[in-house]
Amino acid sequence: MCGIVGYVGTQQALPILIEGLRRLEYRGYDSAGIVLFEGNSLTAEKSAGKINKLEEILRGKTFNATEGIAHTRWATHGEPTDLNAHPHFDCKNKIALVHNGIIENYRALKVVLEKQGHKIGTDTDTEILVHLIEEYYEGNLTEAVRMALTQVEGTYGIAVISSYEPGKIIAARKGSPLVIGHGQGENFVASDVSAILAHTKRAVYLNEGEIVTVTADGYVITTIDKVHRTPHVEEISWTLDMIEKGGYNHFMLKEIHEQPSTLGNAIRGRLNFEEGIPRLNGLNLQYDQLRRIKRIIITACGTSWHSALIGEYMIEELAKIPVEVEYASEFRYRSPVIEEGTILFVISQSGETADTLAALREARRRGVTVLGICNMVGSSIARETDGGVYIHAGPEIGVASTKAFTSQIMVLALITVLLGRMRHLSVQQGMDLMHSLQAIPEKVDRILQKEAEIKKIAERYYKTNNFLYLGRGINFPVALEGALKLKEISYIHAEGYPAAEMKHGPIALIDKNLPVVVIALRDSVYDKVLSNIAEIKARNGQIIAIANEGDTEIAERVDHVIYIRLFPCNFLPIIWRY
Ligand code: BG6
Repeated sequence: MCGIVGYVGTQQALPILIEGLRRLEYRGYDSAGIVLFEGNSLTAEKSAGKINKLEEILRGKTFNATEGIAHTRWATHGEPTDLNAHPHFDCKNKIALVHNGIIENYRALKVVLEKQGHKIGTDTDTEILVHLIEEYYEGNLTEAVRMALTQVEGTYGIAVISSYEPGKIIAARKGSPLVIGHGQGENFVASDVSAILAHTKRAVYLNEGEIVTVTADGYVITTIDKVHRTPHVEEISWTLDMIEKGGYNHFMLKEIHEQPSTLGNAIRGRLNFEEGIPRLNGLNLQYDQLRRIKRIIITACGTSWHSALIGEYMIEELAKIPVEVEYASEFRYRSPVIEEGTILFVISQSGETADTLAALREARRRGVTVLGICNMVGSSIARETDGGVYIHAGPEIGVASTKAFTSQIMVLALITVLLGRMRHLSVQQGMDLMHSLQAIPEKVDRILQKEAEIKKIAERYYKTNNFLYLGRGINFPVALEGALKLKEISYIHAEGYPAAEMKHGPIALIDKNLPVVVIALRDSVYDKVLSNIAEIKARNGQIIAIANEGDTEIAERVDHVIYIRLFPCNFLPIIWRY
């Protein structure tokens, strides 16, 4: 994922931009670059590889610049080379641009621009855009950017500076987030607030199709159709230590360990024990509207899609409302049948995932009420939904979602109880469920205390090439999520399966070299899971079971057991009897 940071003010821009790039490193990148306005011209350095390499190139050079933009690139069009790294320039090196997103019609634009005499030197889609701006430039940079963007198909978050008009950054977004950092006598532009949080906590999120002209003293926002927009400044509640590693080796580990507190945050102030009804006022739905819901569609991507599946099990079990879960990337491109009485939930940690955002917009075009379950306050999804529930998990810097997953499930559990209470759950049942939810953070803490034990198992299997994860019922999506995490982080091929499906194919793969993680809790399908364990053992598979404490029987049947202390309700993977 690419990252953008820009600065205009009175301080030296270089250290601010480098620090901003470092804060964006977590998004992953393969090259980095920076351009400063210095003297009367633009000075740039860029290189494939890590930011350290860029710093190495910059070391020993002195700059005196109070304006610049910088970028971390994740190659899509053109290999990750020094040449293809951003910024890109017009023919006269007077205009520089950094870009997140994809210019889909760049080939057609390139043909036209080359006929007009532009020399295009890189393999990127991005370079086309800066030549287009050059083509339109007639003394007004903002206007040239606007005109160029009217020609572009695709997605972009861009920042542009030019030696024609010093002291200005022009930025625009469509499908790729951008935020303006509001400072005192200085202003910032970034693709993510983490990049600017050290300098300001006041942020203005650009909306789709908006262009902003940022100077040291202010910013003017218009739409691509030249409609003037009044900026809405939001106060960011995050602190700097929330986006730092805090003594952990990496962000993902820190975020895993944050779960007892993030799960607590997800329920704080929301448990109304007296009535047995969670308080979720952000949904903006009255009780009679909640009662009228006939069907729910939940759409999301990746890990958020797995939490949606868990939501399906919980809502159907407790609230008896039919739920359908669909990948946002599928929902947006097909023509789903949406009956009267349907509401759509979108789940997204970042609130910016392009497919989820597109699915949301498609549903809204069809007149469906769309509710969000989001982490990022002020994100596009949070702003474009009719209502929703924040999970309040704090910044999730690790690219593979962890703490957001459990907080999403927690919020889905709250929604389940709310919907159930609107139908047939009694006050007492609502209260009991909420007590169970309240007890979860402490239970998660106990599981985290087993880190050393779990690490030993990981050390035993880390060289394995394949893994299988099995679960039944509501633990099936948990198995899917386990397999996804292993793939994404360990580069070990892993598949998640409903345990019973194993015999319809994957069983062929089982031998002594295949570790299988089996979620085997003492729930209504426990005996069936034991049969699956027997099938695996008959083929000499290695089994790591996740089981309830006290289950000595299972220890005799598997190779390793990770015990968890309490007993699950049948329907909720994270609601433990208290
Ligand atoms: C992927 C991440 O790229 O995006 C996953 O690796 C994440 O961890 C997915 O679940 C969806 O993101 P979001 O922000 O919409 O929940």
